[in-house]
Amino acid sequence: MSTPESPPARVPRHVAIIMDGNGRWATARGQGRNAGHRAGIQSVREVIRAARDLGIEVLTLYAFSLENWNRPRTEVSVLMSLLEEYLEKELDEVIAHDGRVRTIGRLDRLPASTRRAVERAVARTADNHGMQVVFALSYGGRAELVDAARRIARDAELGKLDPESLDEKGFAAYLYAPDLPDPDLLIRTGGEQRVSNFLLWQIAYAELHLSDRMWPDFRRADLEAAIADYQRRERRFGLTSEQVRPGSGTSEPGAR
Ligand code: FPP
Repeated sequence: MSTPESPPARVPRHVAIIMDGNGRWATARGQGRNAGHRAGIQSVREVIRAARDLGIEVLTLYAFSLENWNRPRTEVSVLMSLLEEYLEKELDEVIAHDGRVRTIGRLDRLPASTRRAVERAVARTADNHGMQVVFALSYGGRAELVDAARRIARDAELGKLDPESLDEKGFAAYLYAPDLPDPDLLIRTGGEQRVSNFLLWQIAYAELHLSDRMWPDFRRADLEAAIADYQRRERRFGLTSEQVRPGSGTSEPGAR
């Protein structure tokens, strides 16, 4: 129960996840890497359901990076097939919950059948108002910034944009999904401690939760634990504790 001393716990509006550890999960079991990707699908399903139940508005999943194109051809093709299979099997459930599927990334590099499956899921859910699940596909954070810069330069050339008037808000309008709020919480599974070219602009003030669980072992309880961890953080956005929580009694300088 919440009292004035314990305000209702804030649920992050936007959670982004770097789903890492499929390969190691499989190797540890004496299986090929693709068995790990296959097992990872069950975590995708469960985490999407859990996020919906928790009231998260946007869930962004790093499903395939631009760098992942350099993996062995068979692994890339298994990942593409799994994505297609997932979208075909799960779309009805997403629709039943008024969910919306979106994507960010350089989709023109996807094989035609994957692209069709993705575009179909996006189109069929475009008017829904429930949780948005954003699949980062063929995605790179630096590439997103380069793509934005190209479009900005083009608009400037066409006289549609005055470069001097460009500010952070104006720049962000050129990102892949400018209407989405920035992630409040970035989760990375698999024990590594890096951001791997994910949402470089958008995670400026995201809270980080690093989990040692390999992605195929990451389940509802792990997402709930990550949210609970987030709820214990104080987000200061460069201000002091006293500024964000007047009366908290602390005002140490340099708070980030
Ligand atoms: C990282 O594990 C994971 C990926 C490259 C892709 C994530 C894909 C899935 C969970 C399955 C299909 C996706 C969807 C959205 C249906 P890794 O292979 O880098 O693991 P490692 O670090 O242990 O090698």
